[in-house]
Amino acid sequence: MRAARSALISSLMCSALAFGCDGPPDFERLGGLTADDLPPSPTNAWADDPEAAVLGQALFFDTRMSADGEVGCVSCHDPDHAFADPDQFSMGSFARLGGRHAPSLLNVAFNEFTLWDGRADSLWSQPIKAIEAEPEGDFSRTELAHFIASEYSAAYVEVFGPLPDLSGLPSRAKPGDAAWAGMSDSQRDAVNRIAANVGKAIEAYERKLLCVDTRFDRFMLEGEPLSEREMDGARNFLGGGDCADCHSGPNLTDDRFHNLGLDHGGNPDYGRAEGVEALLDDPFNGVGDYSDDPSFGARRLAEVALGRSADVGAFKTPNLRGVGQRDRFGHLGHETDLADWIDDVYDRPGGRGGRGGRGGNGGNGGNGNDFVGQLSPDFPNGGGNEDAMAAFLRTLDCPPLPEHLLEAPDPSELPGAR
Ligand code: HEC
Ligand code: HEC
Repeated sequence: MRAARSALISSLMCSALAFGCDGPPDFERLGGLTADDLPPSPTNAWADDPEAAVLGQALFFDTRMSADGEVGCVSCHDPDHAFADPDQFSMGSFARLGGRHAPSLLNVAFNEFTLWDGRADSLWSQPIKAIEAEPEGDFSRTELAHFIASEYSAAYVEVFGPLPDLSGLPSRAKPGDAAWAGMSDSQRDAVNRIAANVGKAIEAYERKLLCVDTRFDRFMLEGEPLSEREMDGARNFLGGGDCADCHSGPNLTDDRFHNLGLDHGGNPDYGRAEGVEALLDDPFNGVGDYSDDPSFGARRLAEVALGRSADVGAFKTPNLRGVGQRDRFGHLGHETDLADWIDDVYDRPGGRGGRGGRGGNGGNGGNGNDFVGQLSPDFPNGGGNEDAMAAFLRTLDCPPLPEHLLEAPDPSELPGAR
């Protein structure tokens, strides 16, 4: 049905806008999106549980789950900035800086793999990584368990059932330290279960951060026209620019990893190659003990293999819905202008590569990249016209989310509050 409608649109465009019938953009490579297209998340049995979502929203806005008590998800994923960080690098607990840019969370629920290197194969397995990472929350797994028991016990019990007995647990312990090693298997399992459930509640909230019903969707699904300039940009994006070789489908991503030769200013980042190792080792992956559907997890993990040279220095193709509303682009967050990104990254005469990682300004057409030999074979030729392409991409601007999703819920709305 949808395909038929857009084929009709393409042919109308072809005559009405006089592309010449050799050149209407092939919009079928992208596609429109509605909230009904949200994929299920089988490894999280609470993914669509409304009460879990309210608990997850409260946790998302709570800055106490961190070593200095001042950093939470919201600190780096700002609802006023498309749930991304307006700064290049994010400030974690005790003002520590990370080395990758914090991206937008709009439509993360469509991800197959999450994080720039895809080291999470579900949304629920990601929060514990942020909560524990030294340059982010620098909290620990047992601190998290004690915190949930003291601050969110009623809501947690209402959604997930009884909390385990936490008496005798060290106050601060996480994998890799002696306190964690000194705990019994059953204690570690009980604490991991709480960490997984925290993630599952947060995922239920993140699944509401949708970017649908854009002008592009109305064009695809209802035939509302785009301007000539936007159509020009679309033609370049889909045709000469080869952008849709990677930015394909309704979210404009192949959910795969490519090395675009960005310059890390002397701090090599192995990207996907290390992400795969971490994912296969992760007790919270889709085949692990905390997955609610290990066979689904196994199908997703089957796409992943150690030692692929194409993974070295490769990062995830970002979803481009709402891209024009972001302050910064790429895993280094070094570009602040959409047309400049397209120009600098894809359209450099004879050279490929962006400018400047942290502390450095390579600016040499990609020679500063750590893995130049591994550049993606699909590397596009921007082919100029970046302003028109940027205009086309702005048809994917996201409409505002409902206000009630943009702040912590009132405590009286928490599950078990009445
Ligand atoms: C100190 C800043 C900081 C905090 C706190 C933080 N994040 Fe992030 N977030 C980042 C950075 C930086 C990245 C990119 C890291 C990477 O990919 O390796 C990221 C990536 C993500 C992604 C991946 C998006 C995608 O499409 O791949 C998700 C989802 C996410 N964060 C959710 C959360 C949640 C939920 C929390 C709270 C539990 C949180 N973040 C806390 C900085 C932060
Ligand atoms: C070979 C696959 C590939 C092709 C082809 C490609 N891209 Fe990308 N794109 C990526 C990857 C991977 C990233 C993230 C790069 C990084 O930070 O390491 C990206 C990032 C972007 C971003 C930044 C988005 C953000 O929020 O960070 C924009 C904008 C973009 N691409 C537009 C385009 C345009 C326009 C074209 C065509 C000229 C294009 N891309 C072609 C893979 C591709």
